[in-house]
Amino acid sequence: MFKILLKENLVPNLQVVKIEAPEIAKKALPGQFVIIRVDEYGERIPMTIAEADPEEGSITVIFMEVGTTTGKMASLKTGDYIENFTGPLGVPAEIEKVGTVLCIGGCYGIGGITPIARAMKEAGNKVISIIEGRSKRLLYWQDKLEGSCDELVTVTGDDSDSYQEWISEKIDRYIKGNEKPDLVIAVGCTFMMRNVAEATKDLGIKTIVHLSPIMVDGTGMCGCCRVEVGGTTKFACVDGPEFDAHEVEWDLLVARQVQYLAEEIESLQMFECTNWTKV
Ligand code: FES
Repeated sequence: MFKILLKENLVPNLQVVKIEAPEIAKKALPGQFVIIRVDEYGERIPMTIAEADPEEGSITVIFMEVGTTTGKMASLKTGDYIENFTGPLGVPAEIEKVGTVLCIGGCYGIGGITPIARAMKEAGNKVISIIEGRSKRLLYWQDKLEGSCDELVTVTGDDSDSYQEWISEKIDRYIKGNEKPDLVIAVGCTFMMRNVAEATKDLGIKTIVHLSPIMVDGTGMCGCCRVEVGGTTKFACVDGPEFDAHEVEWDLLVARQVQYLAEEIESLQMFECTNWTKV
């Protein structure tokens, strides 16, 4: 069992959980993930590591409450325990000096991009972080990112942060008004990462995305997380999560991500009924 050292509502519908896991914290590198099973009846889901603190012996993850498992996670409190916590998993982000790097994060990916932006800055790159949310009140960790990059740019889908703009428009406008970046890295929902890929493809900018398909074992044995990249089948858990955004077969990825949608909705309805009954 793994103890929850901190559980907080970060912004509406996004939770932050810090878990006591000293062995994972000692080894975790930017871009890696953990697999969580909340209780003995729970499914296993991957979560990107947002922070690893080897001194405290803790790992921090950020997640959106969208289904049964994340609902169960959100219902836990500081001091509670989760059943399983496995990691660090996946190939760490490739950190090297390339010049100017745009680090893009949205939703849970704002947390996920933070250690990558920090490592890229430490490697000697000029780092511009762009974070996206539907509204200004859904953005978070600006203070952590400001300390980890040369410039922080925020983008909101409404007009709560100066004016309405989505990430693809922002990238286009940013690149036209500034120097062309040498590398773009995006972490967040599939929709956002696909938009980033489309925005940078014609501009010829190398773009890396962190894929998070459905996973079970996280060690390359079940085949559940397979994705098609450059015409080849890859396992996101052991070959990724980093992939060339312009080589990803996005339609197939989206289709595989929603293949259990009916079961997920049924499970969520049963979970919510049970919780209401308890209340
Ligand atoms: Fe099983 Fe990747 S999660 S092979």
